[in-house]
Amino acid sequence: LYEQIQETVQAVRQRAGGLLPQVGLILGSGLGAFAESFARKVVIPYAELPHFPHSSVPGHAGRLVLGEVGGAPVVAMQGRVHAYEGYSPAQVALPARVLCSLGIRALVVTNAAGGIHPQFAPGDLMVITDHINLSGWNVLAGPNEDRWGTRFPDMSQAYAPALRAHLLESSRRVAVPLREGVYAMVAGPSYETPAEIRMLRTLGADAVGMSTVPEVVAARHMGVPVVGISCITNLAAGVGTALLTHDEVAETAQRVAGIFSRLLTDFLPGVAR
Ligand code: 6GU
Repeated sequence: LYEQIQETVQAVRQRAGGLLPQVGLILGSGLGAFAESFARKVVIPYAELPHFPHSSVPGHAGRLVLGEVGGAPVVAMQGRVHAYEGYSPAQVALPARVLCSLGIRALVVTNAAGGIHPQFAPGDLMVITDHINLSGWNVLAGPNEDRWGTRFPDMSQAYAPALRAHLLESSRRVAVPLREGVYAMVAGPSYETPAEIRMLRTLGADAVGMSTVPEVVAARHMGVPVVGISCITNLAAGVGTALLTHDEVAETAQRVAGIFSRLLTDFLPGVAR
């Protein structure tokens, strides 16, 4: 696996035209549009990268986009794969490992999530303070790759406090309100029942989704600082009365694209500096 990822990294470097990304982004459902605004864009479809898994979910473009934001070199994934699509944990984590192996100094993970906190509304952005892994699996299961990190990585600061503070400063600067909360990952692909959402609320979750945790655990294993943003695309089951659809998730994420871009455009140059 280590050698596979080195091959993928070499393939990205060959096409990157000398650009050395300092920040990596994983853009979740409906949030990929942000990468269109990059300067000096280099676009690589996942299908053209060795070993890179590509997704079947609508709203996930399946492209790696390198470029600059406010002069800062960045690399973004437009879309990710999920275990519920049939990918192995190793495949789900591979893209995050590739980004981290490119030498980024921070990884920005984003997702569409259901709101559990009673004050959250669709369209809210939430900086992830912590996560609860309820997926039933861990991306580090199996033999440890010592060249990446330790067998038992610490997760007490999975989401870097300093980066969270910077993101909150950006949110004030560009007047984009930002909630804070705990993200619970479930396996999916069915959405939760109201009883499951009551359970998650009791457990301390503010938002729920089907992604992000594997990439965060892989990045922390490799020692890369992480910052996470959830786009609350809908209220979770029983929090609101509406039935849940992926169309609503995609529509809300697209509606938020403007403020999402404004926030990241302010935030990213400060991280790269
Ligand atoms: Cl309500 N649940 C899960 N698991 N993922 C979501 C969601 C809900 N809304 C957006 N993504």
